[in-house]
Amino acid sequence: MLDTYDLLIIGGGTAGYPAAIRASQLGMSVACIERRETLGGTCLNVGCIPSKALLHSTELYAEVGHGLNEHGIEVGGVALNLRQMLARKDQVVDGLTKGVEYLFKKNKIERVSGTARFEAADRLRIELNGGGEQVLTARKGIIIATGSDVATLKSVDIDEQRIVSSTGALSLTEVPKRLAVIGGGYIGLELGSVWRRLGSEVTVIEFLDRIVPAMDQQIAAQFYKMLQNQGIEFRLGTKVTSAERTMEQVELSIEPANGGPSEILKADVVLVAVGRRPFTERLALDGVGVLVDERGRIPVGLGFTTNVPGIYAIGDVIPGPMLAHKTTLDGVRCVEGIAGQYPGVDYDLVPAVIYTSPEVASVGKTEEELKATGVAYKVGTFPFTANSRARCNGDTRGMTKLLADPSTGRLLGAHVIGPDAGTMIAEAVLAMEFGGTAEDLALTVHAHPTLPESIKEAALVLRGQGMHI
Ligand code: NAI
Repeated sequence: MLDTYDLLIIGGGTAGYPAAIRASQLGMSVACIERRETLGGTCLNVGCIPSKALLHSTELYAEVGHGLNEHGIEVGGVALNLRQMLARKDQVVDGLTKGVEYLFKKNKIERVSGTARFEAADRLRIELNGGGEQVLTARKGIIIATGSDVATLKSVDIDEQRIVSSTGALSLTEVPKRLAVIGGGYIGLELGSVWRRLGSEVTVIEFLDRIVPAMDQQIAAQFYKMLQNQGIEFRLGTKVTSAERTMEQVELSIEPANGGPSEILKADVVLVAVGRRPFTERLALDGVGVLVDERGRIPVGLGFTTNVPGIYAIGDVIPGPMLAHKTTLDGVRCVEGIAGQYPGVDYDLVPAVIYTSPEVASVGKTEEELKATGVAYKVGTFPFTANSRARCNGDTRGMTKLLADPSTGRLLGAHVIGPDAGTMIAEAVLAMEFGGTAEDLALTVHAHPTLPESIKEAALVLRGQGMHI
């Protein structure tokens, strides 16, 4: 290990590791400091990847269990081997984190196992995992990519056994009879779905009077009904005031969010999924004068510059959506900026996907956001019941919704709820990235019969030329 590098990156997650690779591609010497044993951060180790592995396995289980009769496929003797399901998930994680390790070697990135803190704007002291310390200096800059941690509730202590965060909920060794989920956002609905499919009675307790608050309301209303149809129960507009652990269960005191009589909700396992908070502990930011806002985030300017020259911040520690692909965008652009390229980003072009069944995907503005800002818009919607491929597949849940500027036709937002929505949204993202219009989508030839035809059809509807509705 050298003691001076062009770039030092603190954190080897989905912000930090792509930043390191891009820096190496741009000819910089780079060291990445990571305290976890494996690279990939929350997403690869305890987030996106293990949850998607379980979402896929449990979807197959649910489908084989009761979804194939309509197709004339009768399956008997379906049984759950949870241990194998969890082991497969761990193998997927293991393979991908090793993959990042390989990429580090290939790109000659120095990986430092330990915890870094600032000694000066261009110098870090690292407490090495194996014992001892190392001081590293940066010639061009230091990037903070330390990610986020689970947000907690004062009244509910997480023990990762009975009261779990998303990390614990990915490794429950038996299916809880009753699972209470606090928070009706991404994690609550994805992991609630996983355990519901395996047989848990799931109740989601959400503080607000709707689920996934930032989602387009028309889509969210459909989503809510679909989740209810799957047997997930909701207590909207409800808060948890305390959690009492008894020998066998957890008793949650809940009451209306605006106050009112409280009641007890009993569960075998409670999942706390009320958001994530930026993780900047142990960095000694005060010592070098890096500012942090009232929510613990590090404000940045163009190029991800903090208020201290030479120190940059990317990913979940800065304001913006906490999504893995957004953090990667930050990392790559930040390093390109350090190399003298234009580092601008447009978070309106960052898609968001909830990997439930069906999936919900969006990019750009919601109808409510456009209304609130007084921006004129036209809407085009198309239901999957009118899409021939969805009918062939026997899954016609959901719809596509496009929002566009009425005078120029330029796309302002796209929302899909339905099978494979997460894959389908890519087309709308690309169109918007190119400054595309509803006409562009309507004129693009889509193979027939395919699900993405619904995007073209929604564009036709928006232009008053709907064909199959
Ligand atoms: P979230 O912000 O998506 O949802 C948290 C929910 O909890 C909100 O609906 C909020 O109103 C509710 N809430 C807050 N305090 C509450 C309280 N005291 N009682 C009841 N409800 C309360 O956060 P979540 O689901 O924890 O996810 C964390 C982050 O991880 C998110 O920023 C999300 O973007 C990201 N993530 C992304 C995924 C994806 O891209 N598919 C999957 C999982 C997480």
